[in-house]
Amino acid sequence: MNKILVKGGNTLKGKIKVGAAKNSVLPIIAATLLSDKKCTFTDVPLLNDVYVITDVLKSLGADVNIDPATCKLEICCNNILSLEPSPDLVGKMRASFLVMGPLLARYGRVRISLPGGCNIGTRPIDLHLKGLSTLGAEIETGYGFVEAKCTRLRGANVYLDFPSVGATENIMVAACLAEGETIIQNAAEEPEIVDLANFLNSIGCKVTGAGSDSIKIEGVESLNETNHIFIPDRIEAGTFMVASAITGGDVVVENVVPDHIRPVIAKLQEAGVQVLEGHNKVRVISNGVISPVDIKTLPYPGFPTDMQSQLMALMSIANGTSIFTETVFENRFMHVNEFRRMGADIKIDGRLSIVKGSSVLTGADVKATDLRAGAALILAGLFAKGETTISDIYHIERGYVDIVGKLQGIGANIEKIKV
Ligand code: EPU
Repeated sequence: MNKILVKGGNTLKGKIKVGAAKNSVLPIIAATLLSDKKCTFTDVPLLNDVYVITDVLKSLGADVNIDPATCKLEICCNNILSLEPSPDLVGKMRASFLVMGPLLARYGRVRISLPGGCNIGTRPIDLHLKGLSTLGAEIETGYGFVEAKCTRLRGANVYLDFPSVGATENIMVAACLAEGETIIQNAAEEPEIVDLANFLNSIGCKVTGAGSDSIKIEGVESLNETNHIFIPDRIEAGTFMVASAITGGDVVVENVVPDHIRPVIAKLQEAGVQVLEGHNKVRVISNGVISPVDIKTLPYPGFPTDMQSQLMALMSIANGTSIFTETVFENRFMHVNEFRRMGADIKIDGRLSIVKGSSVLTGADVKATDLRAGAALILAGLFAKGETTISDIYHIERGYVDIVGKLQGIGANIEKIKV
């Protein structure tokens, strides 16, 4: 079993580079199922989740070539043999459910196991199904599966009760091959939705309005080849920015779109951290004195839920009390117990966490309860006195390429150990 060992106290300095956005890469790979033409991608992050989604495609008959040396990925879905993704693979990763929209739109049928809940919440799929049924799909659920059928999907107006990222993606992709025009209202506005729309347009789809709360899709009949470059990962960037802030560091985070991380920049500045924006980079300078700030997670452009735990690590060393409100997922405070093992003073009250900052955290044996929680424990460990050992690091490896090596490159005392 692998763990991550962090010895706290080093001040981080230097340059660190962010990779492609996991949450763009996964839906875009799923969307390649729409087309029988080759799609080529460069700088693919070699993450466990990326291997899971490519395995899902392979299990359906797609031709997938991933070259670990060059990080180039080629996918051709001209020989799809199955419309039933393996339940084992769907169970491994919720984003596998994003193959539903393209398979249904292209082949008129799909049978897929229901994704389970997970550590951060129950995560239902009602909005995905409601949207696809508005486009004319007949949907049946039972025995842990959902089966959808249609002759051809028909464009329609779809209103989402909540701007779900996954539901927006599944419906937007499916609507690309529907007959006529679809409008998704109260759509998710995340940069990853824009990246997916850009990919879809590059293969010949007609999507406009992505990045706003109203997305229009005109169905098309045929698609073409593409070469796509993914946007950078705003959550990886935010994680490295907090690493600099919590260690009193001076770090340049490269391959960043500052506009994608406005709320993180704003909250770090409010906490007294200097953030200087450059072209595709940000420099984060901290004197180690952190003022408390309140955080409320919201759909984009609000503060991202995927940065909540990292900011909580930072606020646990602030000189005052801060309040965290998690509005996106109902159970995303699993990291609090782990922070407490390190001496943090945090109380949970429903969807609120009250964090009393302190100048001392101590190293401890802790567990990554989900991907972002794991990253936040690394951040706390970078500050803490003594050694922090983090277990269940497979969660972290789902979303961060070589986080240990990258942090070592800016002076962190961190290593992966075999236990
Ligand atoms: N929801 C419903 N019904 C649905 C769909 C969602 O009630 O049909 C609820 C969820 O239960 C949740 C809220 O809506 O409470 C938000 O869920 P959303 O669908 O927006 O999230 P997602 O598509 O499942 C993506 C990211 C998550 C990120 C969220 C929110 C991917 C692969 N995952 O999940 O990323 O937290 O959007 O921004 O894009 C991560 O990277 O660590 C991660 C969890």
